[in-house]
Amino acid sequence: MNAALTLPSPAKLNRMLHIVGRREDGYHALQTLFQFIDLHDHLTLASRDDGEIQLSSDIEGVYHDDNLIVRAARLLQHHSRTPLGATLAIEKQLPMGGGLGGGSSNAATTLVGLNHLWQLNLPFDELARLGLQLGADVPVFIYGHSAWAEGVGEQLTAVTLDTPWFVIIHPGISVSTPGVFQDPQLTRDSRPITMARALQGGAPEWRNDCEAVVKKRYPPIAEVLHWLAQHAPSRLTGTGACVFAAFETQQSAQAIAQLADQHWPTWVARGLNTSPLHDALGRY
Ligand code: C5P
Repeated sequence: MNAALTLPSPAKLNRMLHIVGRREDGYHALQTLFQFIDLHDHLTLASRDDGEIQLSSDIEGVYHDDNLIVRAARLLQHHSRTPLGATLAIEKQLPMGGGLGGGSSNAATTLVGLNHLWQLNLPFDELARLGLQLGADVPVFIYGHSAWAEGVGEQLTAVTLDTPWFVIIHPGISVSTPGVFQDPQLTRDSRPITMARALQGGAPEWRNDCEAVVKKRYPPIAEVLHWLAQHAPSRLTGTGACVFAAFETQQSAQAIAQLADQHWPTWVARGLNTSPLHDALGRY
């Protein structure tokens, strides 16, 4: 049995995002295409016999006690009734609140990793149901495949998307996701589209319905969308703050990234269809 695991906790992009309605619980019904990219944090999970869930001290600045990875570990501990505990450490690369799913990914990696470390053998469906209690974006990170998502993002169908090189720019501000979703001007009247239609990449439906409201509320994001659109179609991921564009080659992505990097934190990342977490777990 492994006493500790170090696992990548990857980022996602929303290649498109439609808001198709508001539910009675206040959450929004949406349609989105989630795609994994090769940017990730690293989580190290070590098993403990005393049943405690502890954060290693160097995470204090990144995460507080009531954070998503501690909540994920406690949820799984409670659900499985294991007597074991864990020490959790994280090496953060992904920006928090950037629309790349970092927090949700960390929670999912904790659930999947501890399931392995504690030898619980719970199926992904069960972990995804637990994960949904922590956030709407957690389930896709549990299953680890690019997906068409409906509901609040939890009704998932694995899909294979093209895998371009992305330039991802962080406009340097943080977005309030509930603020965007509660904005009265949020586009909420889109008609649902079919998955088949959505998979015809580049269709007019490939837009992000949060974009108009986010641009209005956060002018620096509007500025980055406008700047990047001079080079390739630009889009928001999730409710932002990050903005991205797809390029066919690494060289062309890097050329634009070099220009962007003079103004904003910028990454070049390859699109993936499977999560690096699941590839890494297979090696343990
Ligand atoms: O689930 P998550 O913590 O990511 O959601 C943050 C907030 O975003 C929710 O409290 C809700 O206000 C809003 N939200 C929503 N509809 C979704 C996902 C999130 O209204 N499908």
